[in-house]
Amino acid sequence: MEIIKTIPDMQKRANELRNEGKRIGLVPTMGALHEGHISLFKIARPLCDVLITSIFVNPTQFGENEDLEIYPRDFEGDEKKCKSAGVDIIFYPSTDEMYPEGYTTFVEVKGLSEIMCGRTRPNHFRGVATVVAKLFNIVKPHLSVFGNKDYQQAVIIEKMVEDLNFDVEIIRAPIVRESDGLAMSSRNAYLKDDERRQALYIYRALKRAEEIIKGGERDIDVIIEEIRETIESNSDMKIDYIEIRDAGNLGELEVLEGEILISIACFVGEKTRLIDNITLRV
Ligand code: PAJ
Repeated sequence: MEIIKTIPDMQKRANELRNEGKRIGLVPTMGALHEGHISLFKIARPLCDVLITSIFVNPTQFGENEDLEIYPRDFEGDEKKCKSAGVDIIFYPSTDEMYPEGYTTFVEVKGLSEIMCGRTRPNHFRGVATVVAKLFNIVKPHLSVFGNKDYQQAVIIEKMVEDLNFDVEIIRAPIVRESDGLAMSSRNAYLKDDERRQALYIYRALKRAEEIIKGGERDIDVIIEEIRETIESNSDMKIDYIEIRDAGNLGELEVLEGEILISIACFVGEKTRLIDNITLRV
């Protein structure tokens, strides 16, 4: 497994691989890898000849009062996990390499970036779209895999690829959960025992919503209220949002039908923000 740290070296290697006719697969990450990330490697592996992952804690997607400084970092552990998952190259740039002094260019996906998580995290998706666009130009992948854990992020990347004509196939991957249902996340490392117990009610509330929809409930406000009730009566978590939207384009729904997304963001403890979602066909 190769580790490449500079942009010119990565671009040179990508050009060599493309000239050899190799199909490049990219899984972008911020490291602190867990089974969720590994599942993306496993999906990408048979679809490409060379599997590349990027590990970069991207400062432009963090807000001023967010967790950039304390975001978990474990390059040695990540390296081992990548090796055993069959990753061929880790692209591991420094912040200065990605954003040298004088950096001024950003990618904005209007509309989609302003709803849901974008309300609480105003510049978040601008940072995500920018770094992913840069990674596509650096790693030159034929395909790239994104997890539905960050559902809105995946929709935004697909829109960016369409609007800016990136020649990259985007593949979406299902959410990987702990055995009790908690969605895997690098941020779960922040949770104390009691917070970990409370966090479980995010998924339980999603399952409760699924249950009442399967039982015939179609009133969006009633379903959202049931989710709120499940969370608030079992935890001290502060709900950031509960949204039910069109799973395809994240549009608001007049009536509950088609492929729908139920998405939740909650603060647990001091400042750990967790997100989760399910999709359902109604
Ligand atoms: P990160 O949070 O490290 O996630 C990297 C990829 O792993 C994303 O596509 C995310 O959706 C996926 N992922 C995380 N947890 C998952 C889970 N439990 N099940 C399935 N997939 C999961 O998302 C980012 O980094 C960054 O925003 C990035 C795209 C790298 C840009 O900086």
